[in-house]
Amino acid sequence: MAEFIQVATLQEIPSGTAKQVVAGGRKIAVVNVRGTVYAVDDTCTHEDQSLAAGPVVGEILVCPKHGSRFHLPSGRVLSLPAVRPVSTYPVRVEGDAVLISLEGSPGQGMPHRR
Ligand code: FES
Repeated sequence: MAEFIQVATLQEIPSGTAKQVVAGGRKIAVVNVRGTVYAVDDTCTHEDQSLAAGPVVGEILVCPKHGSRFHLPSGRVLSLPAVRPVSTYPVRVEGDAVLISLEGSPGQGMPHRR
């Protein structure tokens, strides 16, 4: 059974925003999309850039450096220059507490082709 650990509170992540957290030595972006919280690897798969610093557009997190778009539910990359998906992590919300499991899944979908 997956172990969940608290990484943030809902108050810290208003709807439409992302926050970088560190759990188990990994940087993870926790994102609130209209009350549904997603967790994905925070480091862009193109270069060393925090995705949590980028804008949230619906279920998409946009890399602030070069604009690659990542689909939060699947981790799939939707546009260049990044070509590899990000890993996703299970999330639970209990009251105001946001908990994630570090048993992440590799990002889904085919890498975006150049
Ligand atoms: S660093 Fe994210 S798209 Fe380049």
